[in-house]
Amino acid sequence: MTEAAAPVLADANVRQMLSPFGLDIEYTRAEGNALHYTDEEGREHRVVDFACGFGSLMLGHNNSEIAERAKEILDAKVPVHTQLAQHSHTNDLARALNEIIARELHTDEPYYALFGNSGAEAVEIAIKHAEFDRLQRARELLDGVEDNIAAVRDAVSDGGAQVSPEAYALAGVAGSAGLEDLVAEVRRHNEAAAATPPLFLTIEGSFHGKLASSIQLTYNEMFRLPFKSLSAQARFVPADQPDALAKIVSDERVAVLDLVVEDGVVRVVERDFPVFGAFFLEPIRGEAGIRPLSEEFARTIQQVCAELGCPVVSDEIQCGTGRSGAFFAASHIGLVGDYIILAKSLAGGIAKTGVVLVREGRYRNDFELIHSSTFGKDSFSSLIALKVIEMLEADGGAAYRAAEERGAKLKTMLEAVRADFPDVVKDVRGRGLMLGLEFHDQSEAASEIIREQTQHGYIGFAVAGYLLRKHGIRTFTTASALHTFRFEPSIYLGDEDIAQLETALRAVCGVLRRQDEKGFAVV
Ligand code: F0G
Repeated sequence: MTEAAAPVLADANVRQMLSPFGLDIEYTRAEGNALHYTDEEGREHRVVDFACGFGSLMLGHNNSEIAERAKEILDAKVPVHTQLAQHSHTNDLARALNEIIARELHTDEPYYALFGNSGAEAVEIAIKHAEFDRLQRARELLDGVEDNIAAVRDAVSDGGAQVSPEAYALAGVAGSAGLEDLVAEVRRHNEAAAATPPLFLTIEGSFHGKLASSIQLTYNEMFRLPFKSLSAQARFVPADQPDALAKIVSDERVAVLDLVVEDGVVRVVERDFPVFGAFFLEPIRGEAGIRPLSEEFARTIQQVCAELGCPVVSDEIQCGTGRSGAFFAASHIGLVGDYIILAKSLAGGIAKTGVVLVREGRYRNDFELIHSSTFGKDSFSSLIALKVIEMLEADGGAAYRAAEERGAKLKTMLEAVRADFPDVVKDVRGRGLMLGLEFHDQSEAASEIIREQTQHGYIGFAVAGYLLRKHGIRTFTTASALHTFRFEPSIYLGDEDIAQLETALRAVCGVLRRQDEKGFAVV
């Protein structure tokens, strides 16, 4: 069969969608911060990559030091898959991550590592661990109630206590009923409370993956709603609104009833049932349009979760591993997650790994006995991740400084474009090498083509195609904020790459300002 006649059996629909915008390119070579493709005439084009694997290429495409290490590992015939044995490489990786946690998050509490293959899989592991933990907390609470019931029975039967009328009223039992009716009602109430499904909390705009459970923590309704019935639900809290958080918590709170004896009187008291599985947050929300979490709201979340006994999960899949100018983006806002998740850049753009780090005080080590994956702890990925950490930490953290410095230079340029086109560019946000530029909404644009593409949600692809074909720039909008373009290059971004982007963005701004009738057509 000739190439032309060969059916497209992988991602045919996506390819068809990309094609009108000139985005259906096959890249043939990648190195550092650049991708290359060859056009129909056989000419090679260099593209500056600002999408960089949506954050997985902090150290660039095909980093030669990492590639060398990969070859060494393979040549040394290091055992890659050895389930149910010791994994010193994986343990070394967990230890290296713990050293960075201690340094950046100022805690000496150990974090235990659970490994998966991708970001979403690591999020699924965190969800499972949180649920495992929640059920044990629920059991401890209900066992405590049973112990108290036994103590109350003893106290009443030996005449040491009497049931208060308020106790009957609180439990909704007739005042003439006896202790056993009260106990039966308390148990009935508690059984119903205990059947409440877990609820997760997260922030509006969040992105935590697209697997069966993690998708319910991802804000974008197009991705989330078709799979709503598959898994536990989340409530999405508006950012920087502590009152809205307090209201959600109070609306969703579930109490169990407990019996206590005080001064010879049996009383009914309410105790919080652990309905909240975990609060998932991104220190910098990527898909929400590159939005750093404020220090203040991070503190509020930590306080509310500490009161609820609900773990805070810091999803550093996109913003972590050095991109923000520190290894952990949470370190800029003093946020210490009970769980921390890493993936993307941790495996150097060559291997694949995801890790959930759980602090000792919240870790349930029985979880290790019931969760595993064939590829979840392979030596190859662990050794590559160790190499990545070694490279990031070299020269007293030169890579973090590079992320900070390159990011500052890039941001200064984006701010300058905004200053010259305030009618077109709404905002510039982010830190380090995780930046976003938000355009004003074009739904009411004078140009019919720009207006219609905006209304149908395609304007982002049209602009991306124009940037790529006309200016050799690769970037996309974020998944849930469609007017914001992402700039997440590697630390190898050159000054000339920034200049190329500036020319390109000024051209885009020009088209939008002039409301060019041809819009961004490139094919
Ligand atoms: N969490 C965050 C914060 C992410 O940005 C992503 C992926 C995931 C979890 C899921 O990780 O793709 O390895 O399963 N974000 C990509 C993006 C898809 O578009 O930025 P994954």
